[in-house]
Amino acid sequence: MSKTIIVSNRLPIKIIEEGDGYALQPSEGGLATGLASIHAQGENTWIGWPGVAVDDQAQRSHFTSLLKERRLVPLFLSEEEIKGFYEGFSNEVLWPIFHYLPSYANYDLANWETYVRVNEKFRDLIIEHATPDDTIWVHDYQLLLLPGLLRDALPDASIGFFQHIPFPSQELFRLIPWRKELLQGMLGADLLGFHTFDDVCHFVSSATRLTPTNNNSNRLEVDGRTVFAEPFPMGIDAKRFAELSAEEAVQNRIAELRATFAEQKIILTIDRLDYSKGILQRLEAFELFLQENPAFHKQVTLYMVVVPSRDTVPQYRELKDQIDRLVGHINAQYGVYDWYPVAYFYHGYPVEEISALYNVADVCLVTPMRDGMNLVSKEYIASRNDNSGVLILSEMAGAAKELLDALVVNPNDIHDIRSALLQALNMPMAEMNRRMKSMRTIVFKFNVQHWANLFMNRLQEIKNVQSTTK
Ligand code: G6P
Repeated sequence: MSKTIIVSNRLPIKIIEEGDGYALQPSEGGLATGLASIHAQGENTWIGWPGVAVDDQAQRSHFTSLLKERRLVPLFLSEEEIKGFYEGFSNEVLWPIFHYLPSYANYDLANWETYVRVNEKFRDLIIEHATPDDTIWVHDYQLLLLPGLLRDALPDASIGFFQHIPFPSQELFRLIPWRKELLQGMLGADLLGFHTFDDVCHFVSSATRLTPTNNNSNRLEVDGRTVFAEPFPMGIDAKRFAELSAEEAVQNRIAELRATFAEQKIILTIDRLDYSKGILQRLEAFELFLQENPAFHKQVTLYMVVVPSRDTVPQYRELKDQIDRLVGHINAQYGVYDWYPVAYFYHGYPVEEISALYNVADVCLVTPMRDGMNLVSKEYIASRNDNSGVLILSEMAGAAKELLDALVVNPNDIHDIRSALLQALNMPMAEMNRRMKSMRTIVFKFNVQHWANLFMNRLQEIKNVQSTTK
Protein backbone atom coordinates (compact mmCIF):
# COMPACT_ATOMS: atom_id res chain seq x y z
CA MET A 1 0.00 0.00 0.00
CA SER A 2 1.41 3.39 -0.91
CA LYS A 3 1.77 5.99 1.80
CA THR A 4 2.61 9.63 2.27
CA ILE A 5 5.85 10.39 4.05
CA ILE A 6 5.57 13.75 5.80
CA VAL A 7 8.96 15.33 6.39
CA SER A 8 9.47 18.37 8.58
CA ASN A 9 12.25 19.61 10.77
CA ARG A 10 10.20 18.98 13.90
CA LEU A 11 8.14 15.92 14.71
CA PRO A 12 4.70 16.62 16.20
CA ILE A 13 5.94 14.96 19.40
CA LYS A 14 9.09 16.15 21.12
CA ILE A 15 11.32 14.47 23.66
CA ILE A 16 11.96 16.67 26.68
CA GLU A 17 14.43 16.18 29.51
CA GLU A 18 12.60 15.52 32.76
CA GLY A 19 14.46 14.87 36.01
CA ASP A 20 17.07 12.21 35.24
CA GLY A 21 15.18 10.91 32.22
CA TYR A 22 13.06 11.98 29.28
CA ALA A 23 9.34 12.42 28.51
CA LEU A 24 7.27 12.91 25.34
CA GLN A 25 5.22 16.07 24.77
CA PRO A 26 3.33 17.67 21.82
CA SER A 27 5.37 20.21 19.80
CA GLU A 28 4.47 23.88 19.41
CA GLY A 29 3.66 25.78 16.22
CA GLY A 30 1.16 25.67 13.42
CA LEU A 31 2.96 23.07 11.34
CA ALA A 32 3.02 20.35 13.99
CA THR A 33 -0.58 20.89 15.06
CA GLY A 34 -1.90 21.41 11.53
CA LEU A 35 -0.59 18.21 9.97
CA ALA A 36 -1.63 15.84 12.76
CA SER A 37 -4.88 14.79 11.06
CA ILE A 38 -3.07 13.99 7.78
CA HIS A 39 -0.54 11.86 9.59
CA ALA A 40 -3.37 9.94 11.26
CA GLN A 41 -4.46 8.37 7.94
CA GLY A 42 -3.48 4.90 6.70
CA GLU A 43 0.19 4.03 7.00
CA ASN A 44 1.35 7.63 6.65
CA THR A 45 4.72 8.19 8.28
CA TRP A 46 6.33 11.34 9.65
CA ILE A 47 10.10 11.89 9.68
CA GLY A 48 11.65 14.70 11.72
CA TRP A 49 13.78 15.84 14.63
CA PRO A 50 12.46 14.99 18.11
CA GLY A 51 13.61 18.33 19.55
CA VAL A 52 16.50 17.32 21.79
CA ALA A 53 20.08 16.09 21.40
CA VAL A 54 20.24 12.44 22.43
CA ASP A 55 23.81 11.17 22.08
CA ASP A 56 23.57 7.78 23.68
CA GLN A 57 22.95 5.00 21.08
CA ALA A 58 20.88 2.87 23.43
CA GLN A 59 18.65 5.86 24.23
CA ARG A 60 18.29 6.62 20.52
CA SER A 61 17.16 3.05 19.80
CA HIS A 62 14.76 3.19 22.73
CA PHE A 63 13.11 6.38 21.38
CA THR A 64 13.11 5.09 17.83
CA SER A 65 11.05 2.04 18.80
CA LEU A 66 8.78 4.07 21.08
CA LEU A 67 8.01 6.54 18.29
CA LYS A 68 7.65 3.79 15.71
CA GLU A 69 4.39 2.74 17.38
CA ARG A 70 3.05 6.17 16.44
CA ARG A 71 4.45 5.95 12.88
CA LEU A 72 7.03 8.63 13.68
CA VAL A 73 10.66 8.28 12.60
CA PRO A 74 13.14 10.40 14.55
CA LEU A 75 16.14 11.97 12.91
CA PHE A 76 18.64 12.69 15.68
CA LEU A 77 20.84 15.76 15.54
CA SER A 78 23.99 16.42 17.52
CA GLU A 79 24.43 19.62 19.59
CA GLU A 80 26.68 20.96 16.85
CA GLU A 81 24.09 20.24 14.13
CA ILE A 82 21.34 21.89 16.17
CA LYS A 83 23.50 24.99 16.54
CA GLY A 84 24.51 25.28 12.89
CA PHE A 85 21.46 23.97 11.06
CA TYR A 86 18.52 24.90 13.31
CA GLU A 87 19.63 27.91 15.34
CA GLY A 88 22.29 29.24 12.98
CA PHE A 89 21.09 28.94 9.39
CA SER A 90 17.34 28.24 9.68
CA ASN A 91 16.62 30.74 12.42
CA GLU A 92 19.35 33.33 11.97
CA VAL A 93 19.28 33.61 8.16
CA LEU A 94 16.11 32.17 6.64
CA TRP A 95 13.62 33.14 9.36
CA PRO A 96 14.63 36.85 9.56
CA ILE A 97 14.99 37.27 5.78
CA PHE A 98 11.68 35.56 5.04
CA HIS A 99 10.02 37.79 7.65
CA TYR A 100 11.55 40.98 6.20
CA LEU A 101 14.13 41.64 8.92
CA PRO A 102 17.45 41.50 7.02
CA SER A 103 19.29 43.35 9.79
CA TYR A 104 18.78 40.28 12.01
CA ALA A 105 20.50 37.94 9.52
CA ASN A 106 23.86 36.41 10.34
CA TYR A 107 25.52 34.91 7.24
CA ASP A 108 27.96 32.31 8.50
CA LEU A 109 29.57 29.86 6.09
CA ALA A 110 29.97 27.10 8.69
CA ASN A 111 26.24 27.28 9.52
CA TRP A 112 25.38 27.04 5.83
CA GLU A 113 27.59 23.95 5.50
CA THR A 114 25.81 22.35 8.44
CA TYR A 115 22.45 23.20 6.85
CA VAL A 116 23.54 21.34 3.69
CA ARG A 117 24.78 18.35 5.72
CA VAL A 118 21.59 18.05 7.75
CA ASN A 119 19.40 18.26 4.63
CA GLU A 120 21.52 15.39 3.23
CA LYS A 121 20.98 13.46 6.44
CA PHE A 122 17.22 13.85 5.99
CA ARG A 123 17.53 12.57 2.41
CA ASP A 124 19.40 9.45 3.55
CA LEU A 125 16.82 8.60 6.20
CA ILE A 126 13.92 9.12 3.77
CA ILE A 127 15.55 6.80 1.23
CA GLU A 128 15.64 4.09 3.91
CA HIS A 129 11.89 4.42 4.46
CA ALA A 130 10.45 5.22 1.00
CA THR A 131 9.07 2.75 -1.53
CA PRO A 132 8.62 3.76 -5.22
CA ASP A 133 4.87 4.41 -4.92
CA ASP A 134 5.14 6.70 -1.92
CA THR A 135 4.53 10.41 -2.02
CA ILE A 136 7.08 12.49 -0.16
CA TRP A 137 5.74 15.72 1.28
CA VAL A 138 8.49 18.03 2.57
CA HIS A 139 7.65 20.98 4.81
CA ASP A 140 9.10 24.37 5.49
CA TYR A 141 12.20 26.52 5.37
CA GLN A 142 14.49 24.24 7.35
CA LEU A 143 14.43 21.76 4.44
CA LEU A 144 14.66 23.91 1.31
CA LEU A 145 17.43 21.77 -0.19
CA LEU A 146 15.68 18.47 0.40
CA PRO A 147 13.42 18.29 -2.71
CA GLY A 148 16.49 18.73 -4.96
CA LEU A 149 18.55 16.16 -3.04
CA LEU A 150 15.67 13.68 -3.23
CA ARG A 151 15.16 14.32 -6.96
CA ASP A 152 18.81 13.42 -7.66
CA ALA A 153 18.45 10.18 -5.72
CA LEU A 154 14.89 9.25 -6.79
CA PRO A 155 14.32 10.86 -10.23
CA ASP A 156 10.71 9.60 -10.61
CA ALA A 157 9.52 10.21 -7.07
CA SER A 158 6.41 12.20 -6.35
CA ILE A 159 7.72 15.13 -4.31
CA GLY A 160 5.64 17.96 -2.86
CA PHE A 161 6.94 20.89 -0.87
CA PHE A 162 4.96 23.28 1.31
CA GLN A 163 6.31 26.52 2.73
CA HIS A 164 4.63 27.48 6.02
CA ILE A 165 6.21 30.91 6.35
CA PRO A 166 6.06 33.83 3.88
CA PHE A 167 8.23 33.78 0.76
CA PRO A 168 9.82 37.24 0.61
CA SER A 169 10.16 39.64 -2.26
CA GLN A 170 13.05 38.88 -4.61
CA GLU A 171 14.75 42.04 -3.29
CA LEU A 172 15.01 40.41 0.11
CA PHE A 173 15.64 36.84 -0.98
CA ARG A 174 18.61 37.78 -3.18
CA LEU A 175 20.48 39.05 -0.13
CA ILE A 176 21.23 35.47 0.91
CA PRO A 177 24.68 34.38 -0.31
CA TRP A 178 23.41 30.84 -1.08
CA ARG A 179 20.20 31.95 -2.84
CA LYS A 180 20.77 29.88 -6.01
CA GLU A 181 21.41 26.66 -4.13
CA LEU A 182 18.27 27.23 -2.05
CA LEU A 183 16.11 27.81 -5.14
CA GLN A 184 17.57 24.81 -6.95
CA GLY A 185 16.76 22.71 -3.90
CA MET A 186 13.13 23.84 -3.88
CA LEU A 187 12.80 23.30 -7.63
CA GLY A 188 13.44 19.58 -7.12
CA ALA A 189 9.76 19.27 -6.12
CA ASP A 190 6.92 18.60 -8.59
CA LEU A 191 4.60 20.95 -6.74
CA LEU A 192 5.52 23.88 -4.49
CA GLY A 193 2.76 25.13 -2.22
CA PHE A 194 2.55 28.51 -0.47
CA HIS A 195 -0.13 30.07 1.72
CA THR A 196 -0.92 33.04 -0.55
CA PHE A 197 -0.82 34.14 -4.16
CA ASP A 198 1.70 36.87 -3.23
CA ASP A 199 4.12 34.24 -1.88
CA VAL A 200 3.82 32.34 -5.19
CA CYS A 201 4.59 35.51 -7.18
CA HIS A 202 7.61 36.29 -5.01
CA PHE A 203 8.93 32.76 -5.43
CA VAL A 204 8.44 32.74 -9.21
CA SER A 205 10.15 36.11 -9.46
CA SER A 206 13.18 34.87 -7.47
CA ALA A 207 13.39 31.58 -9.37
CA THR A 208 13.26 33.17 -12.81
CA ARG A 209 15.69 36.00 -12.02
CA LEU A 210 18.23 34.06 -10.00
CA THR A 211 18.32 30.67 -11.75
CA PRO A 212 18.17 29.68 -15.45
CA THR A 213 14.46 28.86 -15.19
CA ASN A 214 11.79 29.82 -17.70
CA ASN A 215 8.25 30.28 -16.67
CA ASN A 216 4.80 30.48 -18.09
CA SER A 217 2.95 32.12 -15.22
CA ASN A 218 3.30 29.75 -12.23
CA ARG A 219 4.61 26.87 -14.36
CA LEU A 220 8.40 26.61 -14.30
CA GLU A 221 10.62 24.68 -16.71
CA VAL A 222 13.65 23.25 -14.91
CA ASP A 223 16.09 20.84 -16.65
CA GLY A 224 13.34 19.46 -18.88
CA ARG A 225 10.95 19.01 -15.92
CA THR A 226 7.87 21.07 -15.15
CA VAL A 227 7.43 22.41 -11.64
CA PHE A 228 4.26 24.13 -10.46
CA ALA A 229 4.09 26.83 -7.76
CA GLU A 230 0.58 27.38 -6.38
CA PRO A 231 -1.27 28.88 -3.40
CA PHE A 232 -2.89 26.54 -0.85
CA PRO A 233 -4.04 28.56 2.18
CA MET A 234 -3.74 26.21 5.14
CA GLY A 235 -6.72 25.54 7.37
CA ILE A 236 -7.19 23.96 10.80
CA ASP A 237 -9.09 21.02 12.24
CA ALA A 238 -12.08 23.30 12.92
CA LYS A 239 -14.41 20.55 14.14
CA ARG A 240 -11.94 19.58 16.84
CA PHE A 241 -11.89 23.13 18.24
CA ALA A 242 -15.69 23.37 18.12
CA GLU A 243 -15.96 20.05 19.97
CA LEU A 244 -13.30 20.96 22.51
CA SER A 245 -15.37 24.02 23.50
CA ALA A 246 -18.18 21.69 24.55
CA GLU A 247 -16.03 19.24 26.59
CA GLU A 248 -16.75 19.08 30.29
CA ALA A 249 -13.19 19.79 31.44
CA VAL A 250 -13.04 22.82 29.15
CA GLN A 251 -16.46 24.04 30.34
CA ASN A 252 -15.29 23.80 33.96
CA ARG A 253 -12.19 25.80 33.17
CA ILE A 254 -14.28 28.39 31.31
CA ALA A 255 -16.46 28.80 34.42
CA GLU A 256 -13.36 29.29 36.61
CA LEU A 257 -11.89 31.89 34.27
CA ARG A 258 -15.24 33.71 34.03
CA ALA A 259 -15.48 33.84 37.82
CA THR A 260 -11.94 35.26 38.07
CA PHE A 261 -12.52 37.93 35.45
CA ALA A 262 -16.17 38.52 36.31
CA GLU A 263 -16.18 42.30 35.92
CA GLN A 264 -13.89 42.40 32.93
CA LYS A 265 -13.71 41.86 29.23
CA ILE A 266 -10.80 39.71 28.12
CA ILE A 267 -8.53 40.55 25.21
CA LEU A 268 -6.55 37.43 24.38
CA THR A 269 -3.19 37.14 22.62
CA ILE A 270 -1.35 33.83 22.08
CA ASP A 271 1.94 33.50 20.19
CA ARG A 272 5.22 31.69 20.24
CA LEU A 273 7.96 34.01 21.48
CA ASP A 274 8.97 35.59 18.18
CA TYR A 275 9.90 39.04 16.89
CA SER A 276 7.73 38.40 13.80
CA LYS A 277 4.62 38.30 16.01
CA GLY A 278 4.54 42.03 16.85
CA ILE A 279 4.21 41.43 20.61
CA LEU A 280 5.95 44.67 21.66
CA GLN A 281 3.98 46.86 19.26
CA ARG A 282 0.77 45.23 20.49
CA LEU A 283 1.68 46.05 24.09
CA GLU A 284 2.41 49.64 23.08
CA ALA A 285 -1.00 49.85 21.39
CA PHE A 286 -2.65 48.50 24.53
CA GLU A 287 -0.81 51.07 26.63
CA LEU A 288 -2.07 53.82 24.32
CA PHE A 289 -5.58 52.43 24.69
CA LEU A 290 -5.32 52.52 28.51
CA GLN A 291 -3.89 56.02 28.45
CA GLU A 292 -6.73 57.36 26.32
CA ASN A 293 -9.58 55.36 27.85
CA PRO A 294 -9.61 55.59 31.65
CA ALA A 295 -13.24 54.42 31.58
CA PHE A 296 -11.96 50.97 30.58
CA HIS A 297 -9.58 50.66 33.53
CA LYS A 298 -10.65 47.70 35.70
CA GLN A 299 -13.05 46.75 32.89
CA VAL A 300 -10.57 44.94 30.68
CA THR A 301 -7.58 42.57 30.92
CA LEU A 302 -5.05 41.79 28.24
CA TYR A 303 -4.50 38.04 28.74
CA MET A 304 -1.19 37.40 27.06
CA VAL A 305 0.22 33.92 26.53
CA VAL A 306 3.74 33.74 25.11
CA VAL A 307 4.87 30.21 24.34
CA PRO A 308 8.63 29.72 24.88
CA SER A 309 10.44 29.25 21.58
CA ARG A 310 14.02 29.32 20.21
CA ASP A 311 15.34 30.97 23.37
CA THR A 312 18.87 29.90 22.50
CA VAL A 313 18.86 32.35 19.54
CA PRO A 314 20.13 35.79 20.76
CA GLN A 315 17.29 37.92 19.29
CA TYR A 316 14.66 35.76 20.96
CA ARG A 317 16.32 36.07 24.37
CA GLU A 318 16.48 39.84 23.93
CA LEU A 319 12.83 39.99 22.94
CA LYS A 320 11.85 38.05 26.07
CA ASP A 321 13.63 40.68 28.23
CA GLN A 322 11.93 43.51 26.35
CA ILE A 323 8.48 41.96 26.79
CA ASP A 324 9.12 41.37 30.51
CA ARG A 325 10.12 45.00 30.92
CA LEU A 326 7.21 46.46 28.97
CA VAL A 327 4.61 44.32 30.76
CA GLY A 328 6.19 45.35 34.08
CA HIS A 329 6.02 48.99 33.05
CA ILE A 330 2.35 48.87 31.97
CA ASN A 331 1.24 47.00 35.09
CA ALA A 332 3.20 49.33 37.36
CA GLN A 333 1.88 52.42 35.59
CA TYR A 334 -1.81 51.52 35.33
CA GLY A 335 -2.36 48.74 37.89
CA VAL A 336 -4.18 49.31 41.17
CA TYR A 337 -4.39 47.09 44.26
CA ASP A 338 -7.28 44.98 42.87
CA TRP A 339 -6.53 45.08 39.13
CA TYR A 340 -3.58 45.00 36.78
CA PRO A 341 -4.06 45.36 33.03
CA VAL A 342 -1.81 42.62 31.61
CA ALA A 343 -2.00 39.02 32.75
CA TYR A 344 1.19 37.63 31.21
CA PHE A 345 2.16 33.95 31.04
CA TYR A 346 5.38 32.61 29.55
CA HIS A 347 4.28 28.96 29.18
CA GLY A 348 3.05 26.39 26.75
CA TYR A 349 -0.41 25.04 27.64
CA PRO A 350 -2.40 21.93 26.76
CA VAL A 351 -5.00 22.45 24.06
CA GLU A 352 -7.86 22.23 26.61
CA GLU A 353 -6.56 25.32 28.41
CA ILE A 354 -6.11 27.15 25.11
CA SER A 355 -9.65 26.21 24.13
CA ALA A 356 -11.02 27.61 27.42
CA LEU A 357 -9.10 30.84 26.77
CA TYR A 358 -10.51 31.12 23.25
CA ASN A 359 -13.98 30.71 24.76
CA VAL A 360 -13.70 33.39 27.43
CA ALA A 361 -11.97 35.93 25.18
CA ASP A 362 -14.25 38.77 24.10
CA VAL A 363 -11.55 39.87 21.68
CA CYS A 364 -8.65 37.95 20.12
CA LEU A 365 -5.80 40.25 19.15
CA VAL A 366 -3.51 38.80 16.47
CA THR A 367 -1.05 41.36 15.15
CA PRO A 368 2.05 39.77 13.58
CA MET A 369 4.45 42.01 11.64
CA ARG A 370 4.62 39.10 9.12
CA ASP A 371 3.05 35.67 9.26
CA GLY A 372 2.73 32.97 6.62
CA MET A 373 -0.85 32.17 7.63
CA ASN A 374 -1.50 32.38 11.41
CA LEU A 375 -3.58 29.52 12.71
CA VAL A 376 -4.38 31.06 16.13
CA SER A 377 -6.84 33.40 14.42
CA LYS A 378 -8.63 30.41 12.85
CA GLU A 379 -8.63 28.40 16.09
CA TYR A 380 -10.29 31.31 17.91
CA ILE A 381 -13.03 31.47 15.28
CA ALA A 382 -13.61 27.71 15.28
CA SER A 383 -13.97 27.77 19.08
CA ARG A 384 -16.74 30.41 19.10
CA ASN A 385 -19.75 28.14 18.77
CA ASP A 386 -22.19 30.90 19.76
CA ASN A 387 -20.90 33.35 17.10
CA SER A 388 -19.77 35.88 19.69
CA GLY A 389 -16.29 37.45 19.93
CA VAL A 390 -14.27 39.79 17.75
CA LEU A 391 -11.05 39.02 15.89
CA ILE A 392 -8.55 41.82 15.33
CA LEU A 393 -6.11 40.66 12.68
CA SER A 394 -2.94 42.03 11.12
CA GLU A 395 -3.08 42.61 7.39
CA MET A 396 0.43 41.08 7.25
CA ALA A 397 -0.87 37.61 8.17
CA GLY A 398 -1.80 35.25 5.32
CA ALA A 399 -5.12 34.68 7.15
CA ALA A 400 -6.16 38.30 6.45
CA LYS A 401 -6.67 37.33 2.80
CA GLU A 402 -9.46 34.97 3.87
CA LEU A 403 -10.89 36.41 7.10
CA LEU A 404 -12.29 39.58 5.62
CA ASP A 405 -14.77 40.07 8.48
CA ALA A 406 -12.03 40.50 11.06
CA LEU A 407 -11.09 44.04 12.09
CA VAL A 408 -8.01 44.24 9.91
CA VAL A 409 -5.14 46.45 11.17
CA ASN A 410 -1.65 47.50 10.20
CA PRO A 411 0.53 46.06 13.00
CA ASN A 412 2.99 48.96 12.75
CA ASP A 413 0.25 51.48 13.46
CA ILE A 414 -0.43 51.45 17.20
CA HIS A 415 -3.15 54.08 16.70
CA ASP A 416 -4.93 51.76 14.28
CA ILE A 417 -4.75 48.86 16.79
CA ARG A 418 -5.97 51.16 19.58
CA SER A 419 -9.01 52.20 17.48
CA ALA A 420 -9.75 48.57 16.58
CA LEU A 421 -9.69 47.65 20.30
CA LEU A 422 -12.20 50.37 21.03
CA GLN A 423 -14.40 49.29 18.13
CA ALA A 424 -14.21 45.64 19.22
CA LEU A 425 -15.07 46.34 22.85
CA ASN A 426 -18.06 48.49 21.83
CA MET A 427 -19.28 46.30 18.97
CA PRO A 428 -23.05 45.57 18.99
CA MET A 429 -23.88 41.87 19.34
CA ALA A 430 -25.66 41.73 15.96
CA GLU A 431 -22.58 42.96 14.12
CA MET A 432 -20.32 40.63 16.10
CA ASN A 433 -22.54 37.65 15.24
CA ARG A 434 -22.69 38.54 11.56
CA ARG A 435 -18.92 38.85 11.26
CA MET A 436 -18.17 35.73 13.29
CA LYS A 437 -20.71 33.64 11.41
CA SER A 438 -19.27 34.53 8.05
CA MET A 439 -15.69 33.78 9.21
CA ARG A 440 -16.80 30.47 10.73
CA THR A 441 -18.23 29.39 7.37
CA ILE A 442 -14.81 29.93 5.81
CA VAL A 443 -12.81 28.28 8.60
CA PHE A 444 -15.03 25.18 8.62
CA LYS A 445 -15.16 24.83 4.85
CA PHE A 446 -11.49 25.40 4.11
CA ASN A 447 -10.25 23.19 6.92
CA VAL A 448 -6.93 21.35 7.15
CA GLN A 449 -8.34 18.22 5.53
CA HIS A 450 -9.52 20.27 2.57
CA TRP A 451 -6.06 21.88 2.34
CA ALA A 452 -4.22 18.57 2.39
CA ASN A 453 -6.62 16.96 -0.11
CA LEU A 454 -6.27 19.87 -2.53
CA PHE A 455 -2.48 19.70 -2.34
CA MET A 456 -2.31 15.91 -2.67
CA ASN A 457 -4.84 15.75 -5.53
CA ARG A 458 -2.98 18.44 -7.40
CA LEU A 459 0.33 16.61 -6.94
CA GLN A 460 -1.28 13.40 -8.18
CA GLU A 461 -2.72 15.22 -11.20
CA ILE A 462 0.72 16.63 -12.06
CA LYS A 463 2.31 13.16 -11.79
CA ASN A 464 -0.43 11.64 -13.99
CA VAL A 465 0.21 14.21 -16.72
CA GLN A 466 3.97 13.60 -16.43
CA SER A 467 3.56 9.85 -16.90
CA THR A 468 1.25 10.16 -19.93
CA THR A 469 3.60 12.60 -21.69
CA LYS A 470 6.76 10.52 -21.08
C1 G6P B 1 6.57 27.92 12.63
C2 G6P B 1 7.32 27.22 11.52
C3 G6P B 1 7.50 25.73 11.85
C4 G6P B 1 8.09 25.56 13.23
C5 G6P B 1 7.24 26.29 14.26
C6 G6P B 1 7.82 26.20 15.68
O1 G6P B 1 5.23 27.49 12.67
O2 G6P B 1 6.66 27.38 10.30
O3 G6P B 1 8.35 25.13 10.89
O4 G6P B 1 8.18 24.20 13.58
O5 G6P B 1 7.17 27.66 13.89
O6 G6P B 1 9.15 26.63 15.71
P1 G6P B 1 10.34 25.67 16.17
O7 G6P B 1 11.58 26.42 15.84
O8 G6P B 1 10.11 25.47 17.64
O9 G6P B 1 10.21 24.38 15.43
